[in-house]
Amino acid sequence: MDDVTRIRDRIDELDQEIVRLLKNRYENARLLGRIKKHRGLDYRDPEREKIILRKIERAATSLDLDPNLIRPVFDQIFALSVEAQRDHPQQDPKKLDQTRILIVGGTGAMGRFFARFASQQGAKVKIAGREINKTRTAAKEMEVEPGTILDATSSDIVISAVPMEETVRVATETASLMTTGCLLADLSSVKTGISDRVAEKISKGLEYVSLHPLFGPGIDHLHDQVIVAVPYRPGQKWSRLARALQGGGSKIQTMSAAQHDRAMAYVQGLHHFALISLGLGLDGMGGEPRTQSLRETEGRIVRMLDGWDMIVGIQKLNPFLPPVRQKFLELATNLAQIRSKQASGVKKRLLSNVQKWSRKL
Ligand SMILES: NC(=O)c1ccc[n+]([C@@H]2O[C@H](COP(=O)([O-])OP(=O)(O)OC[C@H]3O[C@@H](n4cnc5c(N)ncnc54)[C@H](OP(=O)(O)O)[C@@H]3O)[C@@H](O)[C@H]2O)c1
Repeated sequence: MDDVTRIRDRIDELDQEIVRLLKNRYENARLLGRIKKHRGLDYRDPEREKIILRKIERAATSLDLDPNLIRPVFDQIFALSVEAQRDHPQQDPKKLDQTRILIVGGTGAMGRFFARFASQQGAKVKIAGREINKTRTAAKEMEVEPGTILDATSSDIVISAVPMEETVRVATETASLMTTGCLLADLSSVKTGISDRVAEKISKGLEYVSLHPLFGPGIDHLHDQVIVAVPYRPGQKWSRLARALQGGGSKIQTMSAAQHDRAMAYVQGLHHFALISLGLGLDGMGGEPRTQSLRETEGRIVRMLDGWDMIVGIQKLNPFLPPVRQKFLELATNLAQIRSKQASGVKKRLLSNVQKWSRKL
């Protein structure tokens, strides 16, 4: 590849990144707009715009970039923000309007994400945690109602966002309180032995779909995010929730519990396993210097620690994972003994894998 092509490719990548960042900013501005509307505040805040501009100009100067070139770009970005903050009821109908949704585990990371999402979509959201004071505080922060598992009796949709190991017990107990025709959904990251047991145990009169959001709770919006759905007993309530999720920009991929776990053995299980091994293997490193690439890998390792129980749960519970881990260990052992003349064979194999993954995108 010549220099011109390489630089053009890099510029293309940067343009894609800029669009993603603009979308992120747009969604945050929308969120802010809803809060401002609730509190009766103006969308445009000239004082804040001045503060942001000063910060941007300082950053540009420190990067040897002329602030006069950056200013008009930010004028456009501010205009986009104001646009985002205005409500557009006709263009943006609330897909869960008046739907009563209970999030069991609503005080946790994923529970909070779904509580916020459902509330933005017009649902009447209640959250339930194990401890009432914590539940009340979380509900106040998210401007939803605090509840208990007993609210399942009067909910159209119940989402169980509790740890994997607790999902069968909590989902079964909750389902026993729900009304026929309502939807139970869980978010467990492993399905075998969990969602299939829930499906067996709960009333056949309930809709039941087991979901797996393939993202962490820290994201700002659902745009381009994948949610796997294992549709045991889908019905009208699931269609409504699915439309809302898709309306938010997410992609729903439907598969069986076994297909899900087989894929996740690689996508999550092996990926986490390799990162944990690497994190432990790096203990001989004393700090600086570090490459940019290692910093990025470190960031991933640090983020895993935030959801450690879930990471361990996936390693323990996904039945497809042990042989995948074993094969990986054998590969690593062989790789450590490789001779230099075999390196091009490794490159060929890596390239073929990369091409296979790209074709599936
Ligand atoms: N985090 C992710 O990146 C992610 C991604 C995809 C799927 N998921 C799935 O989402 C689910 C929740 O994960 P999370 O990361 O949100 O967990 P989390 O932050 O630890 O939250 C767990 C929630 O469940 C409640 N809980 C904990 N133990 C319980 C028990 N024994 N009985 C009843 N409730 C209990 C907690 O209530 P308290 O407030 O009382 O502690 C909290 O509300 C898991 O099934 C996970 O596999 C998570």
